[in-house]
Amino acid sequence: MIDFSKYQTTPAIPEASSMIETFRAIGYNIETAVADIIDNSISANAKNVWVNFDWKGAETWLSIKDDGTGMNNDELIQAMRPGSKNPLADRSLKDLGRFGLGLKTASFSQARQLTVLSKKQDNSTVYWTWDLDYVNQTGNWDLLKYLPESFDENALTELGSGTLVIWNDIDRVVKHFRQNDNNALDKFLFIMEMVKKHLAMVFHRFIESKKIKIYFQDNEIKPWNPFLQSEQATQSFSEEQLHNGKVIIKGFVLPHKSKIDEETYKYAEGTKGWNEHQGFYIYRNERLLLSGDWLGLFRKEEHYKLIRIQIDIPNSLDADWQIDIKKSVARPPLIYKDQIKNYATKVRAQGVEVYRHRGKTIKQTNGQKFVPLWIDHKRGDKWFYKINREHPLLDMAKLQAQTEPDKAIETLIRFIEENIPSKSIYIKAAEEPETQGNPFEGIDHEPIRKTMETMFASLLSKGKTPEEAKVIIANIDPFNQFVHFLEFIN
Ligand SMILES: Nc1ncnc2c1ncn2[C@@H]1O[C@H](COP(=O)(O)OP(=O)(O)O)[C@@H](O)[C@H]1O
Ligand SMILES: [Mg+2]
Repeated sequence: MIDFSKYQTTPAIPEASSMIETFRAIGYNIETAVADIIDNSISANAKNVWVNFDWKGAETWLSIKDDGTGMNNDELIQAMRPGSKNPLADRSLKDLGRFGLGLKTASFSQARQLTVLSKKQDNSTVYWTWDLDYVNQTGNWDLLKYLPESFDENALTELGSGTLVIWNDIDRVVKHFRQNDNNALDKFLFIMEMVKKHLAMVFHRFIESKKIKIYFQDNEIKPWNPFLQSEQATQSFSEEQLHNGKVIIKGFVLPHKSKIDEETYKYAEGTKGWNEHQGFYIYRNERLLLSGDWLGLFRKEEHYKLIRIQIDIPNSLDADWQIDIKKSVARPPLIYKDQIKNYATKVRAQGVEVYRHRGKTIKQTNGQKFVPLWIDHKRGDKWFYKINREHPLLDMAKLQAQTEPDKAIETLIRFIEENIPSKSIYIKAAEEPETQGNPFEGIDHEPIRKTMETMFASLLSKGKTPEEAKVIIANIDPFNQFVHFLEFIN
């Protein structure tokens, strides 16, 4: 241990203005910032949360009120201090906080003025305000006993206990906006709609289990559940436990579009759309941190868009999972990566099947076997696609060909054209680009040479010279890939 008393010291107090800018740059957006404030309400046992705003152009305010336990004056001052709790401290099992920063960083990320009113049961209301302009001016971290207009001290009286967080001067959203500018208002309302959707997603488990109600401009927010568990066509996998049962992983393959109604399909699009919503959903104490992210283990691809995998972690594993201040990043500990990857690989394999076959089961249904028109198969290590020779269409075509050969060929070609297994081909090409076969690769080329000979003879009989015939054939797909045969044709 160093003997500190032997050394000279000098104060090096954080400089207010640069500290503030650092806080502001943590990378929240308004959705994640509001959610972080509501985390505090939930940790304080609130049953109801009200998110309100009043459009006033650049003077627009936004408030988040809860009926939680509230704080007394000392507790509020402590809460307003940046770093009010040690991140290393153990937290109660339900606590959604970690760094003792959220209230401040989330608020400052959007607004230059933060006022918090709070009231404990049987106590009077207390309040304090951070004003970043004032801190900048004085260079001191001093709170102001200031209440913005439109608010008064009685705002919490009817609740018994609770907390009201007010953001003013929300420069990250409404800077330079004028109240009478309808375009600006539209933009603002669009952003607010995003906030609402984000809350419906992040807190869906709390809302579903009726632990909390969140009102948005006095309308109750309905939960958004990513897994469509009430849909019959949703496939759920049995859960697997990690880290001595502390972490639980459970996979879902959502139904193919053809198996759900339009409304459900739109609902499941969520805030980011089907493709972006694929991946892991990490919940920390039931609160959603990540909504569709493959955690660097896989890439997002169209054919995996039906797959969503739930991972539940407790707050005691924050450090292992590298939970960040914004609570929008989590990384699995290295030792569990393989297990998570293996689990996800199984779910993904099933998800691709559903995507490819439009939710059709390939298994026997009612004792009848599914008959595909196209069959994918491997020749050597390359993939090829062939028409199923057992398909009833072929028999029908043969029969029809006896009387109407042109029609028979046309019908057959039409069916083949319309059913090209492009999804299946795309998936294989994307996953194993080296394994796509070329025409006639790896098989006897004699039939091609024979066909070219026949075509050559036919062209000569139509009056072409041998040279002309060869040029014509050399420009016909796929014979253009076999021009070397032409040299030996006479
Ligand atoms: N709505 C609230 N109701 C009661 N206490 C609150 C509320 N918001 C914040 N606090 C108190 O302020 C502290 C600091 O909050 P915050 O800066 O978000 O950090 P953290 O949530 O990581 O503890 C919380 O731990 C809590 O004690
Ligand atoms: Mg917090």
